[in-house]
Amino acid sequence: MDIVLGLQWGDEGKGKFIDLISENYNITARFNGGSNAGHSIERNGQRITLKMIPSGIFMKGVQNVVGTGTVLDPVSLKKEIENLQIFDQTVHPIDNLIISKKAHFVLPTHRLLDAFMEDHPDYTTIGSTRNGIAQAYSNKILRQNVRVGDMFLPDFEEKVHHILKRDYKQLSEDGMVLPSLEEISQDFFEAIDFLKKFNCIETEIYLNKALSEGKKILAEGSQAAMLDIDHGTYPYVTSSSTTAAGACIGLGISPKKMGEIYGIAKAYCTRVGNGMFPTELFDELGDEIRTKGNEFGSNTGRPRRTGWLDLPALRYAIMINGVTQLVLTKADVLSGLKSVAVCTHYELEDGKIETIAGSLPENSRPVLKWLNGWNADFSTMKSPSELPIELQEFLSFIEAELEVPVTYLSIGPGREQMLKMK
Ligand code: IMP
Repeated sequence: MDIVLGLQWGDEGKGKFIDLISENYNITARFNGGSNAGHSIERNGQRITLKMIPSGIFMKGVQNVVGTGTVLDPVSLKKEIENLQIFDQTVHPIDNLIISKKAHFVLPTHRLLDAFMEDHPDYTTIGSTRNGIAQAYSNKILRQNVRVGDMFLPDFEEKVHHILKRDYKQLSEDGMVLPSLEEISQDFFEAIDFLKKFNCIETEIYLNKALSEGKKILAEGSQAAMLDIDHGTYPYVTSSSTTAAGACIGLGISPKKMGEIYGIAKAYCTRVGNGMFPTELFDELGDEIRTKGNEFGSNTGRPRRTGWLDLPALRYAIMINGVTQLVLTKADVLSGLKSVAVCTHYELEDGKIETIAGSLPENSRPVLKWLNGWNADFSTMKSPSELPIELQEFLSFIEAELEVPVTYLSIGPGREQMLKMK
């Protein structure tokens, strides 16, 4: 099993890379997160953002698994499938989308609770996507939730009604103005009827059998290392395990079966939501990168914070994931700048930090190394030898600092704008 992971704070361009390499696999599988993800894929000059559906969905003959470690919002997934079929009528998810019976549901009240906690002064505002992700995962841990397989049981409706009513009671006591319970229940159960038509199975058995038959699986990470619940910049993180080890847990596949681990990183950094971002740019250059790189949340539309590449954070992400190949994206966005900065380490009064382990002492200061910028028309480039010398030097510098080869370089939003470097 090979794995694709984000190494920064999400939005590194995982969808595009997976779309490109998924033809080499028999199965692509999502192992964490839910409709908080936004994996953008381009087809015939049009762009679609996949939230819950694995990015191999467009490939004929590739099966796509929504694994056990995910949380699934039936209402959102129904909409996503309907939009996908409008976007590309040749795609038939009913034939190549498989859902784990053990994936947990995101209930309508999880979304309401998420919004409530984000807005209420008694709680830390995370800047979540308000998709109810944390609430679904926390109810899973509390053992109070319902799972995909439960929808085939006779008491499913009763169980869901019980949870919805309990959450409504709590939220109305806390003063939240709530939509009609009948309306949200109706939407939810309509989506459940839709979902029942899909192949819902024990995906662990399916995936392990596929591996033993010599089939190739690509695990698709959502969010990213610095948003990992354990290893990220807590509390400003998502609620799932976003790492390579998380792929094993979320899919029920042994760590012995891991192959290549592709780490995706931008040539700079972005972040949506709150939390530390020590190389953040607050000036016009930050705005310029945001506009040029179209750095607006593919899921929520929120403007992304922008900043310089953070090598201490990347070293940590590479270490905890065991990344074997780096895929660098969006170097084209920095084109035209006279010089480009990279944070090599953090300085303290009495030492330095070369690897950020999810947090930094207050008095640490990013140390930037300035490299020559590049200026080129990337739109027609076909080979690494056409890259400007300054960008080649930038890549060599990063490889030397991180001790991992950059094997792919994305040079534009188009599907074909990806150079194989090695
Ligand atoms: P949640 O996952 O919706 O609970 O949000 C928790 C944090 O993770 C927030 O800062 C979100 O902006 C961030 N986040 C969640 N999913 C993504 C993603 O796919 N890309 C980037 N950031 C994300």
